Amino acid sequence: MRHGDFARSREARYSQENALRGSAILTRPYIHPDAKSALHCDGVSLEALARRFGTPLYVYSAGHIAERLGLFERAFSGIPHVVCYAVKANSSLGILRLFAQRGAGFDIVSGGELERVLTVDRHAAERVVFSGIGKTAAEMDLALRSGILLFNVEGEGELELLSERAAKLRRRPRMALRVNPDVFAETHPYISTGMREHKFGIDIRRARALYKKAGKHLEPCGVSVHIGSQIRAADPFGAAAQRVAKLIAELRKDGHAIRYMDAGGGLGIEYHAERPFDAEAKVREYAAALMPAAESVGGITLLLEPGRFLVAQAGALLARVLYVKKNGAKTFVITDAAMNDLIRPALYQAYHEIVAVAPRRSSRKMVADVVGPVCETGDFFARDRELPPLKPGELVAILDAGAYGMSLASNYNSRPRAAEVLVEGRRARLIRRRENVDDMLATERLATGL
Ligand code: LLP
Repeated sequence: MRHGDFARSREARYSQENALRGSAILTRPYIHPDAKSALHCDGVSLEALARRFGTPLYVYSAGHIAERLGLFERAFSGIPHVVCYAVKANSSLGILRLFAQRGAGFDIVSGGELERVLTVDRHAAERVVFSGIGKTAAEMDLALRSGILLFNVEGEGELELLSERAAKLRRRPRMALRVNPDVFAETHPYISTGMREHKFGIDIRRARALYKKAGKHLEPCGVSVHIGSQIRAADPFGAAAQRVAKLIAELRKDGHAIRYMDAGGGLGIEYHAERPFDAEAKVREYAAALMPAAESVGGITLLLEPGRFLVAQAGALLARVLYVKKNGAKTFVITDAAMNDLIRPALYQAYHEIVAVAPRRSSRKMVADVVGPVCETGDFFARDRELPPLKPGELVAILDAGAYGMSLASNYNSRPRAAEVLVEGRRARLIRRRENVDDMLATERLATGL
């Protein structure tokens, strides 16, 4: 091995990058503490976690999540605001509790998400915003009874139903229309939402007319927008916020006391370890794009709905290599985790770093596809990836899996869902035990007597 090769290898860069631990621009909490140690999450060895809890295993750093939330709190400290964590990114109770304990709010999109939030903090409803284009009457009733902060209404039919339910339950809920600002944001087409052809929101040009229809059972007090997810540039957020600010000024002229601007979520992260990423600077840029628009109309509480940015990089999916197999010219590393555990690569061709948990002295590399056992060609975590040579029985960590990992997991191929562990400094706590066969079959019945 030539030393220069090692220094340039991705793993070496990865460790160097993590030398920044403790600073606010910390990218990931996963490090090799020294050349002889296994990969750690904060103070806990992933080898020890795999031995104790088995694999596949989701591991999260509580400290990292708190740090990311702190970046938002600091960047937006100049304006009244509530950070409403987007529950869909990771809805595990142990994760929600971290946010509740720090006074964060929540962005929900279903009655189930509201139940989860109320399970961790029964007083959290006053900090909950309810988004989503298909709210049912039962979900509305639950949210009305809980007294949530804001309904983000996404269509005329929904406006009518909400008004009806509010009248029935004798409530007058605060509501915003989610407008579609027709702003283009560079991201994967499946997670872009802010253009006229998307199913989300109401055409911003029709919004004024609809606010007039809100009627006496609803209190129109906000305007909301969400243009998509994994958006790396700040400009589209700024452009959308300006359009919303203009609408707020018009609505106030129409007599509506608008005091909330919900800017949605969507701030992107960097999934590639070798590309620089300064999380603190990103949030500052984001704040600099949003705040002038909010300040231009005055008297506004800004609501923010970040999901991925807060939890993605805190999490890794730990998997064990089952087999290494060659088919023609290709090598496949088959792990015990699969697309049912983490569907992002299969669904969006998403890139996730994959690192060996055991320390490496050599710079030798292999090129392989990292795949799961599910019977689909789309079941892969990486294709033609340069990796350190891996053998059956070894552990790998699939990084940046804290957002849209476990929350999108399924039982496809009748695979029980993974366990989850939350690391707090040197302590690790199981926040979800591994599913077993009884869990999987619990809701099913054998039809008899037909
Ligand atoms: N607010 C609303 C109304 C949303 O629809 C979303 C995400 C968020 C907030 C949070 O966005 P974030 O800050 O996490 O980007 N499964 C995809 C992402 C889907 C995002 C859906 N909506 C993925 O794995 O990339």
